[in-house]
Amino acid sequence: MSTPALEIRQVSKVFVKKERGRARFARVKREKVVALADVSLSVNRREIFGVLGPNGSGKSTLIRLLSTLLIPDKGTIRVFGHDVEKEEFEVKRLINRVSVDAAFFKKFSPLENLTYAARLYGMPMREAREKMRQIMLRLGLKEETFNQPMEHMSRGMQQKVAVARGFLTSPTLLLLDEPTTGLDPHSKRDVQGFVRQIRAEHDATILLTTHDMEEADRLCDRIAIIDEGKIIALDTPEGLKELVSKRNGHDPTLEDVFIELTGKKMEEKEVE
Ligand SMILES: Nc1ncnc2c1ncn2[C@@H]1O[C@H](COP(=O)(O)OP(=O)(O)OP(=O)(O)O)[C@@H](O)[C@H]1O
Ligand SMILES: [Mg+2]
Repeated sequence: MSTPALEIRQVSKVFVKKERGRARFARVKREKVVALADVSLSVNRREIFGVLGPNGSGKSTLIRLLSTLLIPDKGTIRVFGHDVEKEEFEVKRLINRVSVDAAFFKKFSPLENLTYAARLYGMPMREAREKMRQIMLRLGLKEETFNQPMEHMSRGMQQKVAVARGFLTSPTLLLLDEPTTGLDPHSKRDVQGFVRQIRAEHDATILLTTHDMEEADRLCDRIAIIDEGKIIALDTPEGLKELVSKRNGHDPTLEDVFIELTGKKMEEKEVE
């Protein structure tokens, strides 16, 4: 068996939130938030792997850990066999991350922002320039927007520029944190088609988070559902749907699975 693209073993991450009481000399309260608890999963090469979960369930934390922005409290993460802590440099060369809150120089255009990124990555300029145009066109961005300031672009258009920047270096593992949130149906299809294309043409492995169940169903080979920092189910979309019984003679959708799996837990907690 070849080395998996991603191997996560028993990873935990706890944040400590500091809250100062109202009174001037009140003690600072430290509240622990378990963002991830004992998470293990492995992603194969060329897989499109989805992570679903309610708000605050730990999806972005997982992506930050995979991209070396955070260090796990416990457990190990390997990217193509490289340890994210001990071999950070090798890992950084293999991955790129796109997050919903991507930062840009707002006064500059998409081309200028991507050029800045290409320089930072040390890419040859001629090759980078051609690549930027191709990726942006593929993502459905119009040529006339390439040179206008980012601040004049809609949020969805800016998000597409963020996806374009994420793929500029042709990362072997692309981490996409909610790449299609807030995009119109056409734009969603553009981004989904792009994800499939980079897998097919560049042998890329993609891990993405989404709140769009239909997207996860259509796009992902396998899906992990996480809730309160724990993986509660992991399977192919079909496998997940088999977990939930037919309702009124209708086959369950992935949304039914999500509601049932994440909802059941909440009900159980109430009777505790
Ligand atoms: N830097 C931080 N400091 C303190 N707490 C944090 C930090 N980052 C995340 N958390 C907490 O960890 C938990 C998981 O957050 P995370 O952002 O990973 O959730 P998420 O699944 O990405 O949610 P969403 O769907 O809303 O994007 C939340 O309770 C959040 O408040
Ligand atoms: Mg998030």
